[in-house]
Amino acid sequence: MKRFLKFEIRQIPLLALILALSCTDNDLKNNMSEIDKHSFAIPNEAKVTHLDLNLKVDFITKTLSGYVDLLVENKTHTKQLILDSRDLTLEKIEIDGNSQPTEFKLGDTIKYLGQSLTIKITPDTKKVRIYYRTSAQSSAIQWLDASQTSGGKHPFMFTQSQAILARSWVPLQDGPGVKFTYNATITCPSNLMALMSAENDTAKHVDGIYHFKQAKPIPSYLMALAVGDIAFKKLGDNCGIYAEPNMLEKAAWEFADMGTMIKSAEGLYGKYLWGQYDVLVLPPSFPFGGMENPCLTFATPTVIAGDRSLVSLVAHELAHSWSGNLVTNATWDDFWLNEGFTVYFEHRIMEKIYGKLYVDMLCKLELDEMKKEMSEMGDTNPDTKLKLKLAGRDPDEGVTDIAYIKGCFFLQTIENTVGREKWDQFVNTYFKTFAFKSITTERFLEYLNSELIKGNKQWQEKIKINEWVYGTGLPSNYPNIQSSELHKSERAAKEFTNPEKLDTKGWTTHHWLHFLRSLPKKIALKDLEKLDAKFKFTQSGNCEILCDWFQIAIVNHYEAAYKALEKYLCTVGRRKFVEPLYEKLLTYPQIKALAKDIYCKARPSYHTVTRTTIDQMMENK
Ligand code: BES
Ligand code: ZN
Repeated sequence: MKRFLKFEIRQIPLLALILALSCTDNDLKNNMSEIDKHSFAIPNEAKVTHLDLNLKVDFITKTLSGYVDLLVENKTHTKQLILDSRDLTLEKIEIDGNSQPTEFKLGDTIKYLGQSLTIKITPDTKKVRIYYRTSAQSSAIQWLDASQTSGGKHPFMFTQSQAILARSWVPLQDGPGVKFTYNATITCPSNLMALMSAENDTAKHVDGIYHFKQAKPIPSYLMALAVGDIAFKKLGDNCGIYAEPNMLEKAAWEFADMGTMIKSAEGLYGKYLWGQYDVLVLPPSFPFGGMENPCLTFATPTVIAGDRSLVSLVAHELAHSWSGNLVTNATWDDFWLNEGFTVYFEHRIMEKIYGKLYVDMLCKLELDEMKKEMSEMGDTNPDTKLKLKLAGRDPDEGVTDIAYIKGCFFLQTIENTVGREKWDQFVNTYFKTFAFKSITTERFLEYLNSELIKGNKQWQEKIKINEWVYGTGLPSNYPNIQSSELHKSERAAKEFTNPEKLDTKGWTTHHWLHFLRSLPKKIALKDLEKLDAKFKFTQSGNCEILCDWFQIAIVNHYEAAYKALEKYLCTVGRRKFVEPLYEKLLTYPQIKALAKDIYCKARPSYHTVTRTTIDQMMENK
């Protein structure tokens, strides 16, 4: 492995070296596993500790241009600083305020990783200034025309840096093991507002110049910027909503429980350390449900269902303020530490506010989804292990239900074994101990063993840590959640041919999803028509329900839904929704052409993240 060469032998302690040479890959615990295979940087030698960004946002050329100052801690007095970059045009690089440019070299382009940027520095260099511009193809940035926004009058742009896309808009050390603070000055058209994953103002500036400060150290994947016609509404002492003006009231109503969520989260696992917590509602092409950018979660408008039924997403992104943003996975192989902990924490917040029956619904739906995904992956697939091996691949391949749901169920298994009180104490001190640090799975397990399990044989046998973390598939001791609420949906699904008789009073989005998922795979057209006539699925405004309904429609060739399906695919760019729909469309030769046709129209409106996934799918079919 080429990246191995990054570590000169003298830097590896002798014992670790002997271990490394004599052990199998599996045994390479703390030392070696901390190597981030998705970054060219060598932070052990020269580490970036702070960024000062100064960028101009140009909607005409679809570029960001300006400079970034990197403050460097040159630990080994090395003569080179290595950064990650992708599709950036570098104009000039200066060191320590010296206007005489320094030498730099861009490495070969490596698939998924972009290029290394090696900058000549001196053993005492403290500051590096890089003048650069992004390309219109920057994979993190999506530039939206006015027509792709809710207001329809102004353009919009946003970044999505996780996992390794930050390097396509800022040259930096783009691995989750490196944390830095940042300040930024962003200049944008004066009728628009700029926001970042930092302290934000709540009103537009007439000059279009915005100053930001993120005083807490964060990893690069949490760097974020959005610019658009955006307004703010305060929801509580330290929280609020940003959205396009015509979405603001709706969004504020939907997320009214945000303040309560913050209080609940703090009650569980300690003070919220990021000052303000706001949510920015983005246009529908945002490729994810939510993104936990510090101080400012980015969210898809598809969670605004009009009935507050999808707000667990806010609990999830808020929970990341502890799991992920405070205590961060050291490499993308440890991704479950971010997401498994966050799903677990999300459930605890939801339980406190909405009760156990509600969370049982979430858990049951998630368990079913994970089982389905696992069976598609094959339960001996190494990617079903919590600890991943993503070297040489796009870290995006690790974004599966394994990290999220198997990860959460592992933690739930520990809680069930040791009891909630001891577990909560442990989690509290875990977040305090590793706050503002990055941590590997191995370090976590070491800490778990020394602080909680403490050699208790009974607990060890009951939990089966190794099976969960290093084993494939789902361990037999997983918590097999039952949901009394969702039993209602199962019973109703048995009577689906008689929709008039079904008692669906009081059903929430989750009941409906489980109902749709409990229907037989093959359904006669006349029965689909009856269901649709009664429950108006095709006209639903709920994107979750639509996604499931359209899948049923495709499988059963229910053509009456195809127009709505096309419209959906051309507006919604959230990958979780569009991916299964294209996948289903492509399985039937008679509608494959339709899939390609729709994708042709929809593709320009998707973010690179979604495009990359669907492009691959189209190539393989
Ligand atoms: N951090 C993730 C999104 C992400 C993961 C982006 C990996 C890029 C790479 C975020 O917190 C998340 O998990 N979002 C979920 C929603 C959540 C409620 C499960 C999503 O987008 O669906
Ligand atoms: Zn998450």
